[in-house]
Amino acid sequence: MKEKKYTANELMELENQYGAHNYHPLPVVLARGEGVYVWDVNGKRYYDFLSAYSAVNQGHCHPKIIAALIEQSQKLTLTSRAFYNDKLGVYDQFITDYFGYEKVLPMNTGAEAVETAIKLCRKWAYEKKGLPKNSAQIIVCENNFHGRTTTIVSFSIDPEAHNHYGPYTPGFIVIPYNNAPALEKALIENPTVAGFLVEPIQGEAGAYVPDDGYLKKSFELCHQHNVLFIADEVQTGIARTGKLLACDYENVHPDILILGKALSGGVYPVSAVLSSNEIMEVFHPGQHGSTFGGNPVAAAVAISALEVIKEENLAENSYELGMFFRCEMKNLCENSTIAAFVRGKGLLNALIINNKANTNIAWDICLKLAENGLLAKPTHTNIIRFAPPLIITKNQTEECIEIIRKTVLLFES
Ligand SMILES: Cc1ncc(COP(=O)(O)O)c(C=O)c1O
Repeated sequence: MKEKKYTANELMELENQYGAHNYHPLPVVLARGEGVYVWDVNGKRYYDFLSAYSAVNQGHCHPKIIAALIEQSQKLTLTSRAFYNDKLGVYDQFITDYFGYEKVLPMNTGAEAVETAIKLCRKWAYEKKGLPKNSAQIIVCENNFHGRTTTIVSFSIDPEAHNHYGPYTPGFIVIPYNNAPALEKALIENPTVAGFLVEPIQGEAGAYVPDDGYLKKSFELCHQHNVLFIADEVQTGIARTGKLLACDYENVHPDILILGKALSGGVYPVSAVLSSNEIMEVFHPGQHGSTFGGNPVAAAVAISALEVIKEENLAENSYELGMFFRCEMKNLCENSTIAAFVRGKGLLNALIINNKANTNIAWDICLKLAENGLLAKPTHTNIIRFAPPLIITKNQTEECIEIIRKTVLLFES
């Protein structure tokens, strides 16, 4: 049968007509990706400055990761955990060594891994810490983003994510982010706290970087109160912020580490929860699981994706080019009334736009950036996140900075 050739407009119309409207995509229809580039259905090339929300850290269709995917998918794709498979144990050993943990629990998406961490923390609190039944509280931060499940949106303060999904899951205390005294107060006032769930940098909130020392202080406070420090590094982890983990900046080794996104280089949904024997041993057969979690394809893909990070020095590249990028963006802000300031770490950065006169300006800038060959997406109404694949070179970064500069300056009145 001859395949029908659709136009870009027809493809967008199909999504609009038959798909739920739970996203607001930029009007570009992508058909191919390689490295830092993606191409639309008309063959126009763009720099990808979103990297699928930091999932494609290793670049689109990385040959080594794709080879692992193809090789494994031709041998064995899924057994479920009803049986052992010849890849999972090797992966378990690999990833625990890689991040310095004793045990891993494999899942698929970031939200599932966060759910897993919440369950793990609660179960640990009842069985090890000795909290009374159903009393466990988890402290979370304002402006958090941990995913979209019913429990997770229960403690989101973003009305779009939260409203009309009740009744909500109880057991969460929301405190301000980047505020260690608020954490200490919550720990003192609530003796049934089991864990503190935190993003080391708040990605969806617009690459909001806490003050130096915040993570270390929070970690110490948690330990003083026998509370687990749970880091959600789904977006910040795996070299995105210029270190393997964002927590590495403060030498904090979370009690529970949550990973996703770039764990597969964007090739396959793979997430993981890492912890110690002492914590993870609270899970017994039948108490938690997932049909696809830990499947052989996921295991093979994740091993190669993590190998690529080290083989290609992506944390170092992210660190250096991130410094360069922010410095150039700072120059832009100094010469612009539209670009207010830049923040971020490594190659997870955000440009804050002054939108007092036009509340759509961040969206309009992103449309113009796309026209000029660079894809980025606003988060909230006035923040543009810039997160290219970490394999980007200095020359490419310079070219992109020029595109951003030229585009933003078009909006000067
Ligand atoms: C910090 C953080 N946690 C969890 C998630 C949820 O991941 P997923 O969309 O794979 O469920 C995200 C997604 O953006 C995230 O940024």
